[in-house]
Amino acid sequence: MSAQKSRFYVTTPIYYVNDIPHIGHAYTTIAADILARYYRGRGRDVFFLTGTDEHGQKVQKAAGARGLSPEEHAGSMVKNFQNLWKTLNISNDAFIRTTDPGHKKVVRELLQKLWDRGLIEKRSYEGWYCTPDERFWTEKDLKDGKCPDCGRDVEKIEEQNFFFLMSRYQERLIEHIGKNPSYIQPETRKNEVLGFLKNQTLGDLCISRPKKRLSWGIPLPFDEDFVTYVWFDALVNYYSGPLYLADQSNGNEWWPADAHLIGKDILTTHAVYWSTMLMALELPLPGTIFAHGWWTIEGKKMSKSIGNVVDPEDICRRFGVDQFRYFLFREIPFGNDGDFSEDALITRINTELANDLGNLSTRTFTMINKYFDGVVPEPQEAEEEMRSLAEGLVSRTEEAFAALDFQRALEEIWKLVSYTNKYIESNAPWALAKSPETKGRLATVLYSAAEALRVLALHLSPFMPETMEKLLAEMGLPETGGKNPLWGGLPPGTRLGTFEALFPRIEKLKNIEKEEIKSKETPKMQEEQKKPEEKEKSEAEHPENLIDISEFAKVELKTGKVLKAGPVKGSNKLLRLEIDLSEEGPRQVVAGIGKQYKPEELEGKTVIIVANLKPAKLMGLESRGMLLAATDSEGALSVLTTEKSILPGAKIK
Ligand code: MSP
Repeated sequence: MSAQKSRFYVTTPIYYVNDIPHIGHAYTTIAADILARYYRGRGRDVFFLTGTDEHGQKVQKAAGARGLSPEEHAGSMVKNFQNLWKTLNISNDAFIRTTDPGHKKVVRELLQKLWDRGLIEKRSYEGWYCTPDERFWTEKDLKDGKCPDCGRDVEKIEEQNFFFLMSRYQERLIEHIGKNPSYIQPETRKNEVLGFLKNQTLGDLCISRPKKRLSWGIPLPFDEDFVTYVWFDALVNYYSGPLYLADQSNGNEWWPADAHLIGKDILTTHAVYWSTMLMALELPLPGTIFAHGWWTIEGKKMSKSIGNVVDPEDICRRFGVDQFRYFLFREIPFGNDGDFSEDALITRINTELANDLGNLSTRTFTMINKYFDGVVPEPQEAEEEMRSLAEGLVSRTEEAFAALDFQRALEEIWKLVSYTNKYIESNAPWALAKSPETKGRLATVLYSAAEALRVLALHLSPFMPETMEKLLAEMGLPETGGKNPLWGGLPPGTRLGTFEALFPRIEKLKNIEKEEIKSKETPKMQEEQKKPEEKEKSEAEHPENLIDISEFAKVELKTGKVLKAGPVKGSNKLLRLEIDLSEEGPRQVVAGIGKQYKPEELEGKTVIIVANLKPAKLMGLESRGMLLAATDSEGALSVLTTEKSILPGAKIK
């Protein structure tokens, strides 16, 4: 990325419309938002594109399962993303949906172009097809006769299909990557792609699906019996988006993008498919494809069946939007894998945000209010060391941003936070205030602290836009007043506004979420977390994961009648239930169903309880037994009840 350019075009992957947005989606989109806000702040003309990937078999299937047309299904699911982006303060300039007529038109035009140039061919093709993954595999790709990606059954299919002659571009791609060291980042990912390209022969890419098998896609312009392969359609969004969604009035031509931000799992499709497609179309290649790492959750893979999928809406509600945004980019270098836990989030909020930055602002405001009636004093001298540290941030963050090193940018900014806190400590304004002779020095110290705060707000606003805007407003600076990165931008005489602590401290809730997750873990879930080698071993010991009847007999299942249900303080997931199992008294059971059920919906219901489960503590409440509920792959949850009316305490066998 060259710093001289006056425009900046950044993209996120377009997300599968079937997915419920989680921390992974939020991560890439916030990263793109930080970049977009940073470059807008540097005066560049920015175009920031995100959106949804809406075609393909999975969407067609999910729609069918809901009894909806794919259009209706996609139309309702897309809102989950659009709403989350509002919550997270995402400043995207456009939102692309691959079902937009504008996008479909461009996909067809590009396909036609490749066809006219003889770069697409129709061939008979035989391969092993994995329906859930919508992918063909060759015989040698298969692992024990199953899909090498997901391990499920594959089907042998022979059909006519259209192929993009990707193999022709292997050498050119190697050369491009070699000549443009920042084309694929980080370095390790670049080496992975180069290793693959240098050691294997690149095949051609099947870019069609017969309509009889899949109708939910964009028809090929030169053969309407086929639709486009979902990745060909999806990748084109980066090029088509600005063509019909960007304001063209300033004459900006947006392609090529400066940065495609993606997750590491979709690197090949971008680095190889998309790059060669662009070469064949004689279009310029993007500046950078940056593949970030993946988040695990408290050391475990995130998975719907474990129920540890991090819902960003929930985290933001409980901990704050800017706190979440800050954490994601301070915790790990962009490009590495990372682990998310509420403990780690709370620690950063309490130490870096509430203590370091929060206290700095509280102290500065309090003392200017106390000693100068809330008016920024005139400094008597310039604090040269502080000035150079503050002004130096411009180039140091610029370098970090050019390398997409968000963590380094934050570390650099934090040097000024720490410096200013120490500066206040060592100058002890409270002592200077005691004597009229040191009033001048007091003015310098408090001016400098306030000015540092203004500079900090300026540099932190891409990361924490809402809080920094609030801080600048509290400093009495109009929206533009905080933009000057040079020392002295805060005019003496400015009247400070009312001040509210920026980052409230958060009490650590004692392992609630952990307990909650653990209590819901079944052996199947524990199995899912095992490393591949552990899995193999346990499968050898327990072929097909079967149990015998005596193992099942250990579990005592009983019917129970819900007498009372109510919320659990401090958790929106848990409900406290009093259940009649026809024992001496009712049992208290705490169940993680608060998001799906209102307490009153449960009262009077006959439910199924694991009656001989060891008691567990959830949010300080003892739970004696576990309520059974079914969860599907879409995340819907339904509590199990009996088909006919039956007394409480009935045994289930
Ligand atoms: N539709 C394709 C992208 C087409 S782009 C032309 C797709 N969609 S997706 O919804 O599956 O995208 C998910 C994105 O979220 C990917 O970038 C993926 O890397 C990212 N993540 C999914 N789980 C993740 C984590 N646990 N952690 C971080 N990111 C993760 O792929």
